[in-house]
Amino acid sequence: MNTRIYAVIGWPLGHSLSPIIQQAAFDAAQLDATYVAIPTPPGDEQLRFHEVRKGELSGLNVTIPHKHAAFHAMDSLTEAANSLGAVNTVICDNGQLRGDNTDLQGFLDSLRTFGKFDPTGANAVVLGAGGSARAVVHALASSQPKSVLVANRTLRRAQALASSVTEIRGPKIQASTLDADQLEDQLSKSTLLVNTTSVGMVGGPEPDKSPINPSWLHKNLLVFDIVYRPTTTPLLHAAELMGAKTLGGLEMLVLQGAASFKQWTGENPSLDAMFGAGRAALSRNQLTGGS
Ligand code: ATR
Repeated sequence: MNTRIYAVIGWPLGHSLSPIIQQAAFDAAQLDATYVAIPTPPGDEQLRFHEVRKGELSGLNVTIPHKHAAFHAMDSLTEAANSLGAVNTVICDNGQLRGDNTDLQGFLDSLRTFGKFDPTGANAVVLGAGGSARAVVHALASSQPKSVLVANRTLRRAQALASSVTEIRGPKIQASTLDADQLEDQLSKSTLLVNTTSVGMVGGPEPDKSPINPSWLHKNLLVFDIVYRPTTTPLLHAAELMGAKTLGGLEMLVLQGAASFKQWTGENPSLDAMFGAGRAALSRNQLTGGS
């Protein structure tokens, strides 16, 4: 049998960590498979979907800007992909394309497994209102939280995300800006803070900054920064100084990747192999972008 080829597509793709952690999973499972990065400019993503349909590619991870186009190109969607309006994993069953979104499950699994945190009944704050925030807010809203506030630089994006999740999932999600009294107040009674903005990320808009006033952090918080470069962002550093618990973005990246692997192969990958490869790559500091 020929070597199976899996790929991540995006534009620009940068130095994505996905090929490193997925290849480690395939190797540890002793599967004859290669996982590659295919930089795919807008318009060319349909070619990749066609290659999956024909069996030339065995499965895809999809990242920016193709998650929405993938959503429309699938024959069927999982509940997660359907509610997020975005696909990050393409699976082929007998020539039929199925789209999943493992960001939602990857977030919840990493929160529960590595953060030892159950969002049920919790007060939570999510920073940011982009695609990552959408997955995080959906995940929290599906877990019967007590309250969720979405805080974002651009208020109308926070409001749009909050109202769309409220419409689909039920619990009323609040919205504010990043410097609002409402955010300070909600944080003081919260036990979970999740950052999905690119503030604090290597190569991002403000790599040396925390997205919010660090004095608003406190020791009863779990601070989860889904940014994984650097492994300790300025927000996580401030949280550590406050005595808060912290969780970095590699955990979510690995667990959403593990969920994709399971969809393609039917097997649970070796998380040790994936973390080992991911940490080694990050410490080599060779990565400059991508998912
Ligand atoms: P993703 O899909 O990865 O979530 P995105 O859609 O580009 O990426 O969202 C990036 C998030 O980081 C947004 O919430 C953005 O805020 P705006 O909606 O106001 O653009 C936030 N962000 C980016 N640069 C920022 C900055 N300098 N200060 C505060 N927030 C910032």
